[in-house]
Amino acid sequence: MLSALCRTRPTSSSLRNAVKPARYRYLSNYSRTTLSLNNNEEIPAIGFGTWQDKDAQEDAVYEALKAGYRHIDTARVYGTEPAVAKGIKRAGVPRDEIFLTTKLWNNSHHPDDVEKACDASLKDLHTDYVDLFLMHWPSAFQRGDSLRPKHGGKILTDNIDFAETWKAMEALVKSGKAKAIGVSNFNKTELERLLDNADITPAAHQFECHPYLAQQDFATWHKSKGIHITQYSPFGNANPVYEKGESVPKLIDDTVLTDIGKKYGKSGSQVALAWGIAHGRSVIPKSKTPSRIKANLEGDFKLESEDVARVDAIDKKLRFNDPSGSFGYEYYVGLDGKE
Ligand SMILES: NC(=O)c1ccc[n+]([C@@H]2O[C@H](COP(=O)([O-])OP(=O)(O)OC[C@H]3O[C@@H](n4cnc5c(N)ncnc54)[C@H](OP(=O)(O)O)[C@@H]3O)[C@@H](O)[C@H]2O)c1
Repeated sequence: MLSALCRTRPTSSSLRNAVKPARYRYLSNYSRTTLSLNNNEEIPAIGFGTWQDKDAQEDAVYEALKAGYRHIDTARVYGTEPAVAKGIKRAGVPRDEIFLTTKLWNNSHHPDDVEKACDASLKDLHTDYVDLFLMHWPSAFQRGDSLRPKHGGKILTDNIDFAETWKAMEALVKSGKAKAIGVSNFNKTELERLLDNADITPAAHQFECHPYLAQQDFATWHKSKGIHITQYSPFGNANPVYEKGESVPKLIDDTVLTDIGKKYGKSGSQVALAWGIAHGRSVIPKSKTPSRIKANLEGDFKLESEDVARVDAIDKKLRFNDPSGSFGYEYYVGLDGKE
């Protein structure tokens, strides 16, 4: 079942002989695991995260592409889209060999603002399409140029229905500015309501997922709906911004992960990535450190099912990323790890 979700690259002759859906595209010369999306596109199982360390991202993206990554994750709010474009240009990898994701920020949820926001991202990314455009959060901030509109120190929210935002995102697929659209940080109730009102089923949902926050029931539900999962913060509390993670021993040092790693000649962090891929999910580790950038790509290896089960068992329902307080909206209601 799991292996059916993973694809090895088609050979050029099999591609010639296959009846290809109109939108089918593959990444030439890419020999690592890719996973299928519901729009018939393929997403490389290991992607490259670019949140934080803005000034280091041009070099990091360059290193990542040179190492062999072909999937890059950015977002309007990260401010890293220009650096991603520069890194891609320097690496000289053709655009059509890269799976590029960016995200709609909360100040642009009004349906009249969505295409403009996408255009601004495309301009900064030096491209005329993205492979995946995600609604970053289900909640809206006040419309306008400010990414974090505030009054008296508090974020100004707006009452825009994400189902209306989604309709405007669907138009981007029709115009070709986004090959696929998806969401991020939704709970099940929100996603069910979106599905009830959508013409296009989200191709992907990006949310916090790692061995300490496995969310197995939620993940199974996504499979039943044909929605691919991308795991963000795949190393859990490795991200130093997560204050809650400071009092918890590091996930990547968990002895279950490091013990399993010994069997394969891998580190705990590589096992954490392989676990997500074994479940048919893509993972988007971030690093500005060349040796880690290379090492993380080697997290694309096959874990035996007994080892997948051992990692499943260390779930602690520990969520490290929850900006509900500062964003003025209660996220993740009903999901594991919600406090
Ligand atoms: N949709 C969303 O709301 C959302 C939220 C969070 C993240 N994301 C996306 O997901 C990406 C990844 O998540 P994340 O950045 O939170 O966390 P992460 O990738 O789980 O962890 C990143 C941290 O781990 C360190 N690290 C990387 N590789 C390592 C290794 N092999 N050994 C030890 N430490 C290692 C990095 O340090 P150095 O950089 O110093 O090497 C960095 O501090 C983001 O960059 C972003 O693209 C999306």
